[in-house]
Amino acid sequence: MLDKEKFEAVEVRFLKPGTVLSGILYDEEGTMLWPARKLLTDAFISKLKVKGIETVYYAPPKWKQAPQKTPMFTEASLGFAQTAFDEIVTEIRYGKLPDTNRAREAINRFFSEMEARPNGFLNLLVLKDYDSYTYQHSINVGILSMFLTKKLGFNTFFIKEVGVGGFLHDIGKIKIPIAILNKHDNLTEEEFRIMKYHPIYGFNIAKNDPSLSSYIKKMILFHHEKWDGSGYPLKLKGDAIGNFASIVSVCDVFDALTTERAYKKPYTVNEALIYIMRNTGNHFSPYVSQRFINEMSKMYDLGSFYPVGAFVHLSTGEIAYITEKKEEYTLRPTVAVVVNHKGVPMRTPLQVDLQRDVDRHIVKTIDDPDEIERLSLLL
Ligand SMILES: [Fe+2]
Repeated sequence: MLDKEKFEAVEVRFLKPGTVLSGILYDEEGTMLWPARKLLTDAFISKLKVKGIETVYYAPPKWKQAPQKTPMFTEASLGFAQTAFDEIVTEIRYGKLPDTNRAREAINRFFSEMEARPNGFLNLLVLKDYDSYTYQHSINVGILSMFLTKKLGFNTFFIKEVGVGGFLHDIGKIKIPIAILNKHDNLTEEEFRIMKYHPIYGFNIAKNDPSLSSYIKKMILFHHEKWDGSGYPLKLKGDAIGNFASIVSVCDVFDALTTERAYKKPYTVNEALIYIMRNTGNHFSPYVSQRFINEMSKMYDLGSFYPVGAFVHLSTGEIAYITEKKEEYTLRPTVAVVVNHKGVPMRTPLQVDLQRDVDRHIVKTIDDPDEIERLSLLL
């Protein structure tokens, strides 16, 4: 069901062929009906009437922004970054060596603004039109990566390096056929095989550029590697991927999930963070993603995922109760195990600090009131 509060309602009788709406059109069930920025056709409007649909809904594009906070970045810098990316892409298309110093300049501008407004809101770009997805995504990943690197305590040099790495991470996509890049349905095995070359293509573009450090080249090459070794192209595992590529990886997925495309509804920030949380330790580096979830939860004023007092399922099959948290948004609080992996209540609850016990992690919270009441008797 569509959350109508977030959408503009339009009565079908007022829709005219040739009108262009700036957001995707949905019915009240939340099913996508028509892409954004595409001329409405007579046939489409007639079809709505035949189906008996009287009202449709669309979300006007807006910043991914929480209310009452000053944006961190100026329109001028965001515009500068778009032009810089455009120029780099054009040079590569024409077979020239791109001047990647423009990427660095864009990141320098973002960095200064981030330092000037440390409590500002990360105003990421949202799509104005679908063709510029790669541009906007690259700029967002640059911004997010830079921000996360700062929060992880790295110095200015590395913050900027990771920013440039995030900005250029998908540059190899320029060598992927447009039909595959823009395909809305699932890729075939062969198409996916081709798609998986983009980190290598990107690395090949970057490798002879003396102004790009080896850190940046590795971020481009490793940004689809996964913590458990199931990524591509090299199937690197764990620490071999390095913190910087792990930063770009989590920022890449976050921005992709929360972005609206012609063929998919965006995840909310909350849903995207839950996705990242569930895939921490298999897809994402625990060290990096924990900090990311923490910082984004603060940025978007989200409640804590695991409040003290909640019952949770652990990865071991045990059920535990959250007793203490050292950080508000932590994924690894201190818990008391109250039911063992065989489903048998413990005589004495077992205290476990999940920060130290890396073999256990929280899978999900228990929300069923009856189950919570039953478990409460065990405390
Ligand atoms: Fe990529």
